[in-house]
Amino acid sequence: MASTKSRSKTPPEAPVDRALDAAVQGDDVRFDRTLRPQRFDDYIGQSKHKENLRVFVEAARQRGEPLDHLLLCGPPGLGKTTLAQILAHEMGVELHMTNGPVVEHKGSLAGLLTKLQPRDILFIDEIHRLNPVVEESLYPAMEDFRIDVMTGEGAFSSSLQIPVSPFTLVGATTRTGLLTAPLFSRFGHVLRLDFYPPEDLARIVMRSAGLLEVTIDPRAADEIALRSRGTPRIANRLLRRVRDFAQVLGTGKIDIPIVRDACARLEVDSAGFDEMDRRLLRVIIEDYEGGPVGVETLAAALGEPRDTIEDVYEPYLLQQGYLGRTPRGRVATKKAFAHLGIALTGETGSPVSLPTQKKLF
Ligand SMILES: Nc1ncnc2c1ncn2[C@@H]1O[C@H](COP(=O)(O)OP(=O)(O)O)[C@@H](O)[C@H]1O
Ligand SMILES: [Mg+2]
Repeated sequence: MASTKSRSKTPPEAPVDRALDAAVQGDDVRFDRTLRPQRFDDYIGQSKHKENLRVFVEAARQRGEPLDHLLLCGPPGLGKTTLAQILAHEMGVELHMTNGPVVEHKGSLAGLLTKLQPRDILFIDEIHRLNPVVEESLYPAMEDFRIDVMTGEGAFSSSLQIPVSPFTLVGATTRTGLLTAPLFSRFGHVLRLDFYPPEDLARIVMRSAGLLEVTIDPRAADEIALRSRGTPRIANRLLRRVRDFAQVLGTGKIDIPIVRDACARLEVDSAGFDEMDRRLLRVIIEDYEGGPVGVETLAAALGEPRDTIEDVYEPYLLQQGYLGRTPRGRVATKKAFAHLGIALTGETGSPVSLPTQKKLF
């Protein structure tokens, strides 16, 4: 009785489409759906992870068991949600999607868990943002496929155990470090997605161009790949913008000059950096003589939340060697100075533009 009542109070689960749509905005939503791979064969790159996952799926299918719980980590746009969808397709099970902050209380989680059919996948995006009480009630579900519900009050209270179908939890997070140790330890697999090398991004761009039925010179796909910050979502977005320029200002065909022209107009530079990336490096160089600068100070100077700086901007700049991390804060590397065409004068330590400024766009 009690459980029925509490379930009826549970807010409706965020529908799959809304969870997906939250990741991309406006017009990009339709585009994103068209381009999202549905099978392992269409998922380009990350081959080591993909081959391992194929084996785990095959083994689980043969045994008629759910996959082990899986944690996907990595910066936004690298294909975490896509992988969760592919896993559900390949397992032939249903995918139930939600988002950490959306699961507000134990009741909402119970509502989600009791709907699962055997071997279904529950995908929790931004799992590091689960409320601690909800997170704790997830542990017995992950370990023993049950949820514990307290009924009654005070001396009359007792714990009721509700069984849950054996399921797979797939969690996604931008940073593993944000997960609590008890939650982290309950995942059977932890998969860290890396930025994609340009050749993989170029293949993604060629595939997407094919799906969009737009003609593209393979060298133009390489050029888009180099300017996409190692990220499939950015590559697809840039392709779409370039397609607009090609259609309105050119012949409709995407070639290198069109890509370069579009990038200059969009202020995406030769390293694939946008306005924010450059501002971040400039603040360190021009206001703090190259650093070190604490991340809080940087966030305040840029007017962006600290999380956005750490999750969205820094990882690629660090990976590419434009930014360094020291115990006292972030530093701009020589590569960053060279890219922006700035030098520090020895005596005053103040920044000056180099006479031979490299072409940014
Ligand atoms: N390996 C891949 N191969 C092809 N396209 C990909 C790949 N990874 C991501 N994408 C594309 O990039 C977009 C963003 O991926 P998504 O799974 O939403 O990233 P995340 O969940 O990590 O933020 C998807 O719509 C998909 O079209
Ligand atoms: Mg996602």
